[in-house]
Amino acid sequence: MNILAIESSCDDTSAAVLTDGSLKSNIIASQKIHALYGGVVPELASRAHQQNIVPVVSVALKEAGTGVHELDAIAYTRGPGLLGSLLVGVSFAKGLALGANVPLIEVNHLEGHVMATFLTDDKPQFPYMCLLVSGGNSQVVKVVDYNHFEVLGQTIDDAAGEAFDKCGKMMGLPYPCGAIIDQLASQGNAQAFTFAKPHVPHYDYSFSGLKTSFLYFLRDQLKTTPDFIELHKADLCASLQRTIIEILLEKFERACIAEGVREIAVGGGVSANSGLRAALVALGKKYGWHVHIPPFQFTTDNAAMIGIAGYYKYLAHQFGDIEAVPFTKN
Ligand code: KG4
Repeated sequence: MNILAIESSCDDTSAAVLTDGSLKSNIIASQKIHALYGGVVPELASRAHQQNIVPVVSVALKEAGTGVHELDAIAYTRGPGLLGSLLVGVSFAKGLALGANVPLIEVNHLEGHVMATFLTDDKPQFPYMCLLVSGGNSQVVKVVDYNHFEVLGQTIDDAAGEAFDKCGKMMGLPYPCGAIIDQLASQGNAQAFTFAKPHVPHYDYSFSGLKTSFLYFLRDQLKTTPDFIELHKADLCASLQRTIIEILLEKFERACIAEGVREIAVGGGVSANSGLRAALVALGKKYGWHVHIPPFQFTTDNAAMIGIAGYYKYLAHQFGDIEAVPFTKN
């Protein structure tokens, strides 16, 4: 059973082919243009998707050795994301599904991130808890079944990825900053500086206070030491990364204990962070929990995760509607 998956929610155009739930190809065209502007420019993103979508899908099919006539369904990201970007993938998926006379499967982008660990041989057992940390979302999700997700907590303002990106921008780092901060942090002292942590009830997150604390700290230091950032970049990155990880895991740990789960997972672009991955492994060791961390290529936006989420929807006969329109917010 062959599924073609299409992902175009933000600034990566991606297509993947899965046969009986096993990944055959996963092609990603990233858009470098946004680095010039310090963030994703929606209009440029949708134009780039229009240019990329046909070649990306063609290469994914070719690499998998699958013809359009051999497809059984087309899974696509319906949202959340940027409207113009989503429209390209959604329209393309609909057109191809009509032409190939196969059903559509709608996938929520966030569910894709949560399901990314199912692309590996070591699949989580239900129920499991997933820390979903991407550029636009930070959530504590209880995954009860393939198609049953309970969001126990989420950010009330910025996401963890935004905290990395916005603080990185303050240090003059190019967008997206998460991976660069991760790399610089490995050379710094994580205890060098202290930044504010939020006091938000339940399992919700907030990162805007940390951002402000980081901004004011830099502003004060730069008054007396103009090259403070250059002199302390690695320590700044290590301390910032430690603070973000502590904020994320303090709530996640509490939620996992309260829910009594024995399996934990992580998903989303920030799950590529080496400090977070190590901290999750340590957390698993502390409680004897089974930890599921997706391989790097499935952490940032990719169609493989949309394909695996779509595969389980296919098995549950959850097909989409040709009239479905994209949604921008969850
Ligand atoms: O999941 P993703 O590709 O996009 C959304 O669906 O939102 O996540 C992108 C985010 C960016 O904020 C980027 O800075 C962050 O993931 N990121 C990282 C790392 N690699 C990417 N953050 C921390 N450490 C990393 N190694």
